[in-house]
Amino acid sequence: MKGKKIVLGVTGGIAAYKAAELARECIKRGAAVHVIMTRNATEFVTPLTFQTLTGNPVSVDTFQLTGEWEIGHISLAESAHLVLLAPATANVIGKIAGGIADDLLTTTVMATRAPVLICPAMNVNMYSNPIVRENMEKLAAKGVRFVEAGYGELACKTEGYGRLACLEDIMEDAEDILTAKDLVGQHVLVTAGPTREAFDPVRFITNYSTGKMGYAVAVAAKRRGAKVTLVSGPTSLPQPRGIRFVPVSSAREMRDAVMSNLPEASVVVKSAAVADYRPAGFSESKIKKTERPLEFTLERNPDIIAEVGKIKGDRILVGFAVETDNLVGYATKKMKEKNMDLIVANDITQPGAGFAGETNIVKILDREGGSEDLPLMDKMDVAHRILDRVAELVGKREGAARARKR
Ligand code: CTP
Repeated sequence: MKGKKIVLGVTGGIAAYKAAELARECIKRGAAVHVIMTRNATEFVTPLTFQTLTGNPVSVDTFQLTGEWEIGHISLAESAHLVLLAPATANVIGKIAGGIADDLLTTTVMATRAPVLICPAMNVNMYSNPIVRENMEKLAAKGVRFVEAGYGELACKTEGYGRLACLEDIMEDAEDILTAKDLVGQHVLVTAGPTREAFDPVRFITNYSTGKMGYAVAVAAKRRGAKVTLVSGPTSLPQPRGIRFVPVSSAREMRDAVMSNLPEASVVVKSAAVADYRPAGFSESKIKKTERPLEFTLERNPDIIAEVGKIKGDRILVGFAVETDNLVGYATKKMKEKNMDLIVANDITQPGAGFAGETNIVKILDREGGSEDLPLMDKMDVAHRILDRVAELVGKREGAARARKR
C-alpha cells in the first residue's frame, strides 16, 4: 500500500465508526487516504474524526463545492489507486448499480477508472433482498469487487449476514487489488513454521519458528497472482484466505505433503524450520518420571529440500539458512549442495532478525555469486523482495524457453 492513494467512501450506517479504524490501518501501511462521506454518514461519525486521522480534508457534498473544489475532486477520482466503500449501504450500492451520481461519493465512483472495492453493511433482510443481490451481481459483473458482509449480531438486534466484513479481510482484498500481478500462471508451494517431533502422547521436540516469514511469502505470492499451496507446521497464525492450506505436524508429514504437492508447483519456497532429528522411538503411553536421567536417541529426519533439489527439474527452488556464524559461507554451501536457485540467509544473532518478530534482516544469495543485502525490514517486505527475485528468474526461464522454441 506504500505510496498509494485510497479514496475511502463512508456511507450512512452504524458501521461508519469502523471506517475510522480502516482509515488508520491504510495509513499505517503507507497509503494516503482521502475520505468522502455521504450526508447521512456524518450523522454517525463527524468529518473531523477522519480529517484528524488522515491529515486530509474530508469531502461531504457536491453542492457545497466551489468550481475549484469540483475540479479537485475529479482529479481525486483520477489519481486514486483504489476507491474503497466501507460501509456501503443498500442505497449507495443501488445508486451506483443504477448509474446515479447525485452526490460527491457517487460522482467520484462514476468518474474513477481506479478499481472499486465495496464493503456492504446493512440489516440482514436488506442484505438478502433480491434487489440488493441483483445490484451487487450487476456491479460484480462489471469488475467491481465486494468484500461480503459477515455473520453476527446486527445493530437492529437481529442476527445474520449484514455486518461489515472484518478489518483483516477488507485490508487483504485492498492489498490484493493494489499489488501488481507478476506471478500469474505460477504455482508457489511454500512451507512454513516449525515441525513437532513427538516422543509420547503429550510431549514433543520443536523449535522457535512462528511461521511468520513463510506465511508472509505465501500471502505475498497470492497477492501477486500466483496459486499458492501452504504446507504449514503448527503455528498460532490464522489460516490465510485464498490459499490452499495443508496443515502438518512432523517433518515426515511435511515431506509427504511437499512431495504430493510438488508435481503442480513451479516455484518452491522452503521457509519451514524443519527439525533435523526426531526421537528414535515413540511411547504409546505417557512416559512417567523416575529418579534416573531420561535418555533417548535422536535419528535423522528426511532433508526435504535436498530431496526436492534432486528432482526439481525447471522449478525454482528457494531455501532459507538460519545461522549464528559464517552466514554467507554456510548458506552458499547449502544452496549448492541442495541444488537451490536462491537462498535467503538469516543471521539470527542480529537484533530484529529471525524467529518470532515482525521484522527480519536477510541476504539473498544466488547461484551466480550475487548477494543482495537487505536492511531491517518488515517480513512482508522481505517476502516481496524474495518474490521479486523469483519473478526475475521466472522471466529469464520463460525467455530461454521461448528462444529454444524458435
Ligand atoms: N530443510 C529441509 N529439511 C530438513 C532441514 C532443513 O527441507 N530436514 C530446509 C529448510 O526449510 C531450509 C533449508 O533446508 O530452507 C536450510 O535449513 P537449515 O536448518 O538452516 O539447514 P540444514 O541444511 O538443516 O543445515 P544445518 O542444520 O546443519 O545448519
